[in-house]
Amino acid sequence: MVKSYEFPGSFLWGAATSAYQIEGSPLADGAGPSIWHRFVRTPGLVQHGHTGDVACDHYRRMKDDVLLMKQLGLNAYRFSIAWGRIFPSGRGAVNEGGMDFYERLVDTLLENGIEPVATLFHWDLPLALDDRGGWLNPDVADWFADYATAMYRRLDGRVKKWATLNEPWVVADGGYLHGALAPGHKNLFEAPIASHQQLRAHGKAVRAYRAEGRHEVGLVVNLAPKHAASDKAEDIAATRRADAYMNRQYLDPVFLGAYPEEMKEIFGEAWPEWPAEDFDLIREKIDFVGVNYYMRDMIRHEELKWPVKTAVAPQPLATYTQTGWEVHPKGLTEILVWVRQRYGEIPLYVTENGAAFYDPPCASDGRINDPLRVDYYREHLRAIHDAIEAGVDLRGYFAWSLLDNLEWSLGYSMRFGLVHVNFETQERVLKDSARFYAEVIASRGAALGASD
Ligand code: BGC
Repeated sequence: MVKSYEFPGSFLWGAATSAYQIEGSPLADGAGPSIWHRFVRTPGLVQHGHTGDVACDHYRRMKDDVLLMKQLGLNAYRFSIAWGRIFPSGRGAVNEGGMDFYERLVDTLLENGIEPVATLFHWDLPLALDDRGGWLNPDVADWFADYATAMYRRLDGRVKKWATLNEPWVVADGGYLHGALAPGHKNLFEAPIASHQQLRAHGKAVRAYRAEGRHEVGLVVNLAPKHAASDKAEDIAATRRADAYMNRQYLDPVFLGAYPEEMKEIFGEAWPEWPAEDFDLIREKIDFVGVNYYMRDMIRHEELKWPVKTAVAPQPLATYTQTGWEVHPKGLTEILVWVRQRYGEIPLYVTENGAAFYDPPCASDGRINDPLRVDYYREHLRAIHDAIEAGVDLRGYFAWSLLDNLEWSLGYSMRFGLVHVNFETQERVLKDSARFYAEVIASRGAALGASD
């Protein structure tokens, strides 16, 4: 029997992007540079020396991109605000030139019936703040709350869903522990501090929202189920550490008021004790959790992998994306159910989900055939339907990403878009996955039932 898939009428069907990955024109209209502006200019850090100087030129093509969203039938769009466009040196007086861009974006979305969902921080910290210690300086919580307040005051009437941070784990792990992402530090002692100061900043921005805003504020985290690669005790212990490090490090303090026990085991003497009042701040009630889901990981103990001592075991029969991530749609159902079980009833959104695969060139009929991505979306959308059936209060789904874009230190080599971007000409072409997603949206899920 063919299963039928139907989603609630209020379900948000979206796509997500982030400022530095698509906008280009990083210094336009008085904007200040971010840590990524410096990182991409440091030789050897980004593949092929790619930069976000032009990216998808979205800063100048915003209106056309909103029309593309409309063409797909999206009723929501998740974007991030570049802090440095609003406060060029991170603090001080609002730069109206930058604010104007986001006001126009939000107005254009609303005119086209698309709900704007804004993320305040998607990794592009103003450089001037990094020069004062960035996420290591405890004052960053106040800087962030001031910036958040300026945005709420200007846009809360029009933006009804706000996310404070995108993936604090990636910022701490990539930016401060392993150095693969800006600001490029490799320091065991810094990573826990960067995590904690991000959480304090999140808490202060939530508090500020209760004073200024009237809608919803939440946090976006990336989660991946961690499964033991064998039943050996050392692999089971490693799986517990991997799970604490990625999945519980942020949500436990936010919902339970304490870090997971395993953090001390992982960081040893580099794991600090924090004052109790910090956890009152971090525990400020939020209205939703955004889950970014890309993969599950089969974990084995690996003594030489610093500092968590875990490695991901390859799965011989699995499909892998071009970024080397195992395609495992059931993991999305699993992780959504897990959030509900561990942290209780809270509205959830899948705020990112998608895949990079090698895309063939545009065919003569103008189509871009990306069957692996079509399958990926079909199976993951079925998986979120399963989560809803299992009782998860899931209110929306955002594909990552609307456009092919700058995949951080991998440059433009990894294409995650529903829409293909020719980076020479900036021409946009809908991939077959975009057409498929549009059919799913138009049928409110029914197209997922058709056999593949
Ligand atoms: C990030 C995106 C990124 C995507 C694919 C997420 O971790 O939020 O900015 O492009 O994954 O790597």
